[in-house]
Amino acid sequence: MAEHIHLVGLSGSLRKKSLNTYLLHAVKEVLPEGVSLEIASVADLPLYNADLDIPAADERPKAVATLRQTLAKADGLIFSSPEYNYSIPGGLKNMIDWASRGKDSPLVGKAVALIGATPGLWGTVRMQQAFLPVFQYLDMKYANKPEILVAQANQKFDEHGKLTDETTRELLGQKMEALKQLILDRRALA
Ligand SMILES: Cc1cc2nc3c(=O)[nH]c(=O)nc-3n(C[C@H](O)[C@H](O)[C@H](O)COP(=O)(O)O)c2cc1C
Repeated sequence: MAEHIHLVGLSGSLRKKSLNTYLLHAVKEVLPEGVSLEIASVADLPLYNADLDIPAADERPKAVATLRQTLAKADGLIFSSPEYNYSIPGGLKNMIDWASRGKDSPLVGKAVALIGATPGLWGTVRMQQAFLPVFQYLDMKYANKPEILVAQANQKFDEHGKLTDETTRELLGQKMEALKQLILDRRALA
């Protein structure tokens, strides 16, 4: 039997009716066979402070330690994020900073898919570009294609937050297949 693949997804937006959180939930509808998705949150993390980042003593703030454990159990990650001021929202970047340090970093070398939604016309492309040096520094392997740039996203979900746009749903399915394949290819090499 094929081995199971466990994904952890994080939204870059904290608001209740976030289009990006809706998009992350839509991923659950298109998961390939043998793949599960757990949705976690960056909401409880304190601001990064290197004085509190004490790996040896395992004394990082509790919310940080908990999220790092959740990420460590994942075979791959999904970041669903808005673009803030042409870049990565602070909450998501703060999570990256907390999870990036130490020999036991749960980000280094990990497979990831980045997706984004905006009411605007450019589909979060500048946020996604801003992630590339982060992925590079952390040696993360990203599933590049198809790009998920959900423009005019305020017109693509119903009042319950369900994705109504079939093209986006189809692309999301392809993206998850690409992430699955990336993880399987890397397992085969390990
Ligand atoms: C601080 C801030 C900065 C923003 N900057 C951008 C931007 O650079 N590009 C863009 O397309 N939308 C921008 N927006 C609009 C967001 O795309 C919009 O609020 C979106 O709905 C946020 O995602 P969410 O629905 O997941 O919360 C910005 C919004 C905020 C609050």
